[in-house]
Amino acid sequence: MYLLAFESSCDDTSVALLQDEALICMRTHTQLEHIATAGVVPETAARLHANHIFGLLEDVLKAWKIELHDIDIFAATSEPWLIPSLLIGKTVAKTLSKIHNKPLIWVNHIEWHIFSVLLERAREEVIFPAIVLSASGGHNDLFLWKSLYEIEKLWWTIDDSAGESMDKVGRSMWLPFPAGRDVDQLAQKHNPEIHTNIPEFPIVLLADSLNFSFSGIKSAAIREIELRKIQNESWLTENDTIEIAYGYQNTVTEILTQRMIQAQRVTKAKTLCLVGGVSANSMLRTKIGDFWKKIDIPLLLPKSLKYCGDNAAMIGIRAYWEYKKTQ
Ligand code: KG4
Ligand code: ZN
Repeated sequence: MYLLAFESSCDDTSVALLQDEALICMRTHTQLEHIATAGVVPETAARLHANHIFGLLEDVLKAWKIELHDIDIFAATSEPWLIPSLLIGKTVAKTLSKIHNKPLIWVNHIEWHIFSVLLERAREEVIFPAIVLSASGGHNDLFLWKSLYEIEKLWWTIDDSAGESMDKVGRSMWLPFPAGRDVDQLAQKHNPEIHTNIPEFPIVLLADSLNFSFSGIKSAAIREIELRKIQNESWLTENDTIEIAYGYQNTVTEILTQRMIQAQRVTKAKTLCLVGGVSANSMLRTKIGDFWKKIDIPLLLPKSLKYCGDNAAMIGIRAYWEYKKTQ
């Protein structure tokens, strides 16, 4: 069974071909045009998706020497996200499914992030119920994955997401958008002998629920950056950027880790899953990995870093499991 999946919900255009649950070919185009605007402009993103989607589709078909009439199922992201962008992938998938008279499966963006742990992994490795921390630019949630098709959102961010806050702090340090990966790389340069002026930000853990809040520490970090700019005559030294990146990332990852630990304790989940763009963060992986070593339950991360950020392989795997439901 061949499944062709399309992703265009934000700034990545992606086409993936799966044979059953195995990804066999994927082509993704990331729009760098949004660096100039330090954020995604929906209309620009939609135009760029329209420019690239057919080229990517042709590349995938040629690479696997397959024709559109060989495809058994089409799939695309249905929601949520940027409506003009979503429309491109949805229109292409729906048109192809109509022309070739093949089923079309709509997939929710957040659900395919969760199912990203099933790429290249046996489904039995997820022992339900699982707690899933899904942290990205657009969302920041804790889910209880009760059974394969039953997911409940338990806690979420009341303001910014972790990724969004890192992007905004990075932007104040003139890092290109999205800044999460650069913040991670700067933080990895931290040397305690040299970088001694690490700013401390409060670990904000709301008392009335396990919800998240990042906007307060984001503002504190931006104030620290502006202060250092004033002290350095409108400039930041490399050491400043390393110290701020390290201090900020340490706080964000501490909040995410502590929440995941609390969520596991409250729900008594039997598996931990960490997904979304921020799940690529090296410090977060280390902290959650350290917690996991002390408990006797599986920790599942996307098998490859390429399954952390948005792409069509994840839509494909979610759609595959939807198809299996009907078998
Ligand atoms: O899941 P994703 O690709 O898109 C959304 O659904 O939003 O996540 C993108 C987010 C961005 O905020 C980006 O800065 C962040 O993930 N990100 C990272 C890292 N790589 C990407 N944040 C922290 N550390 C990273 N290594
Ligand atoms: Zn996403």
